[in-house]
Amino acid sequence: MRLLSLSSLIWLAIAAPLAGQADSASDPVLAGAELAAVERLFVSQCARCHGMGGTGGIAPSFRQPKLRRAPTDDAMVRVILSGIPGTAMAGFWNLSEDEARQLTAYVRSLGRLPPERVPGDSGRGRALYAGPGNCSTCHILAGDGAGWAPDLTDVGRRLNAAFLRRALIEPGADQPVLPLPSVHGPYPAYLVIEVTTGSGKTLSGTRVSEDDFTLVLRAVDGRLHSLEKTSLKALRKLPGQSPMPSYATAFSAEQLDDLVAYLASLKGEQ
Ligand code: HEC
Ligand code: HEC
Repeated sequence: MRLLSLSSLIWLAIAAPLAGQADSASDPVLAGAELAAVERLFVSQCARCHGMGGTGGIAPSFRQPKLRRAPTDDAMVRVILSGIPGTAMAGFWNLSEDEARQLTAYVRSLGRLPPERVPGDSGRGRALYAGPGNCSTCHILAGDGAGWAPDLTDVGRRLNAAFLRRALIEPGADQPVLPLPSVHGPYPAYLVIEVTTGSGKTLSGTRVSEDDFTLVLRAVDGRLHSLEKTSLKALRKLPGQSPMPSYATAFSAEQLDDLVAYLASLKGEQ
C-alpha cells in the first residue's frame, strides 16, 4: 500500500477546516484516503498506549466526549506536541502542528463513538471492593483507604476494561513505570525487592527510592525501611512481580466482571 506523503497531509490540513475552535466545534470531514492517512499516523504514534481505535490501554480511552487535559482543540494540539509533564505522555516533537491538528480531529471523532460496553454489575462490584478483597488496605479511592498503591479514583478513565481485568488477574503484567531518568534502568513504580539483612532476616517490599548506597523499601503493611546496601547479605529485584495479590481464583468469573464494571465506572470528577 502506498503511504501518503507528508505534503498531502499538510494539504489536507489546509483543505479541511479543522483548525481548533473550542470543544466539539471541529466537525472534521475525515474520509477515504485522508482518514486512512490519519489512522495510520494514529496507529504508528498513539495506539500503543491509547489502544487500537483509541479504546484506551495504559493511557486514557478517547471514546469519551470530554477529555480532561484537552478540553479544546488548541489544548489537544499542545498536549500532542508538548506532552503532559510528569506522565508517560511525552511531546511528539517529530510531528508537525498540522499533523497534530489532524490527529486532534481524529481523536474528537473517536469521542463521538459509543463508549465501550462492560459486562457485570457495578453495584455488586462496589460491594466486592469494600468487602473481602481488602482493596482499600493498599489503594485510595475518592479519599478513602491507605494510599501507597495507585489511586483508583479515576482508574476507569485511565484504563480500559481489558486492562482492568488484567490488573486483577495478573498484577505486575503492566506495571506503571515512572517517567524518571534513572541509572538503575526503567523505573517501575512498584518494583518488588527482597533483601536479607546482616542479621539474616528477610524482608520484602516495594522500592521507594534507591541510590548507590541506600535502599528504601515499603513493606506491605505500609512501613518504610531504610537499608544500607553494604550491610545486606542479599538483594533480589523481582521485576514483573507485584505486591498486589492475584484475584484470579479468589473471585468467580462473574465477580471479576462485577469488579471490572465497578472500576470502569470510576471516572473521577470531570
Ligand atoms: C507512551 C505512551 C503514550 C503515547 C505513545 C501517547 N500517549 Fe497520549 N497519553 C498518555 C498518558 C499516560 C496520558 C494521561 C496523562 C495523565 O493525564 O495522567 C495521555 C494523555 C493524552 C491526552 C489527554 C487525555 C485526557 O483524558 O485528557 C491526549 C489528548 C493524548 N494523550 C493524545 C495522544 C496522541 C494524539 C498520541 C499520538 C500522537 C498520544 N497521545 C501518544 C500516554 C501516551
Ligand atoms: C497488597 C496491596 C494491594 C491490594 C490488597 C490490592 N492492590 Fe491493586 N495494586 C497494588 C499495587 C502496588 C498496584 C500497582 C502495581 C501493579 O500494577 O501491579 C496495584 C494495581 C492495581 C490496579 C491498576 C492501577 C493502575 O493505575 O495501573 C487496579 C485496577 C487495582 N490494583 C485494583 C485493585 C482491586 C480492585 C483490589 C481489591 C480486589 C486491589 N487492587 C487490591 C496493591 C494492592
